Amino acid sequence: MKKIVVTGAAGFLGSHLCDKLLSNNNNIIGIDNFYTGRKENIAHLLNNKNFTFINHDLIDFIKLDADEIYNLACPASPPQYQKDPIRTLKTSIYGSLNLLEEARRLKAKIFQASTSEVYGDPDVTPQTEDYRGSVNPIGIRACYDEGKRCAETLFFDFHRTYGVNVKVVRIFNTYGPRMDPNDGRVVSNFITQALLGQPITIYGDGQQTRSFCYCDDLIEGLFLMMNSSDRFTGPVNLGNPNEFTISELSELIQDILGKKSKIIHKPLPMDDPRQRCPDVSLAKKELDWTPKISLKEGLKMTISYFDKLLSGKVN
Ligand SMILES: NC(=O)c1ccc[n+]([C@@H]2O[C@H](COP(=O)([O-])OP(=O)(O)OC[C@H]3O[C@@H](n4cnc5c(N)ncnc54)[C@H](O)[C@@H]3O)[C@@H](O)[C@H]2O)c1
Repeated sequence: MKKIVVTGAAGFLGSHLCDKLLSNNNNIIGIDNFYTGRKENIAHLLNNKNFTFINHDLIDFIKLDADEIYNLACPASPPQYQKDPIRTLKTSIYGSLNLLEEARRLKAKIFQASTSEVYGDPDVTPQTEDYRGSVNPIGIRACYDEGKRCAETLFFDFHRTYGVNVKVVRIFNTYGPRMDPNDGRVVSNFITQALLGQPITIYGDGQQTRSFCYCDDLIEGLFLMMNSSDRFTGPVNLGNPNEFTISELSELIQDILGKKSKIIHKPLPMDDPRQRCPDVSLAKKELDWTPKISLKEGLKMTISYFDKLLSGKVN
């Protein structure tokens, strides 16, 4: 039985990762400070004898005991990470540094949940891992993008300097049950607005594209990456390469629900990327991973979760 630390355990992806690792008979130590995570996401785990929860802010050092560390702690939606940008930077930078020091001491393998945002508003599409990105270092998204870029630098410097076994994944837009309905991400916004009979808010003309990966596909990729050969450090893109415009996403949600919503257009936020699409050939080659769940299937499962959540039938 491996001892595995998951940071950001009460978040959307962290809680799904804990489920997956527990189902594989591991001992999990989940760490979170509930900055954007929710108690409901881990309520079902609190009586599991193989799960321990620690309420801790990773900006501060914590002594660990683990064979593997997955670092997912960081607010992920723009309204959340922009609320306190300095804190976001500290979480990515100090948080990664603290965990890397522990991985080095413990000789533990350490995983970083990086992001497609390291590519900024990209000049090339789809993005391959060798594209170095186009990030505005002084814009309102920089606290997240540059924090994650700096975390990647720390991971690779710990790898080169101390031989720490690192695994870095660049996650593209992922959605599914347990997303926070209020955290301002496009999928949860559209579903919540449509279910509540409110107008759907589209920023810009809706022609900007995104690729949407269902959480189960993504979690499988994170697991395969952590368990891949030591020689493979990444960074590796994980996401769904099927591109949709934001308008198409809103139409698909309305089709599934069988009702039409009014659409309201608002101005695009500063530095919003026009296009975002992963090239996942490296993940296919190294991890034999490709996403399997279509946007329609994934949205149906997500809508069903939000429907129950909004009518008080799930936590
Ligand atoms: N969901 C996506 O589409 C996506 C895309 C790219 C990258 N990622 C990355 O994956 C990770 C998980 O994202 P998510 O979608 O589950 O977001 P989330 O906001 O649901 O989860 C993040 C979790 O980290 C916790 N956290 C934040 N700061 C902390 C701190 N200082 N100390 C302890 N805990 C802290 C939050 O409370 C929350 O539970 C993040 O690192 C995010 O940057 C997610």
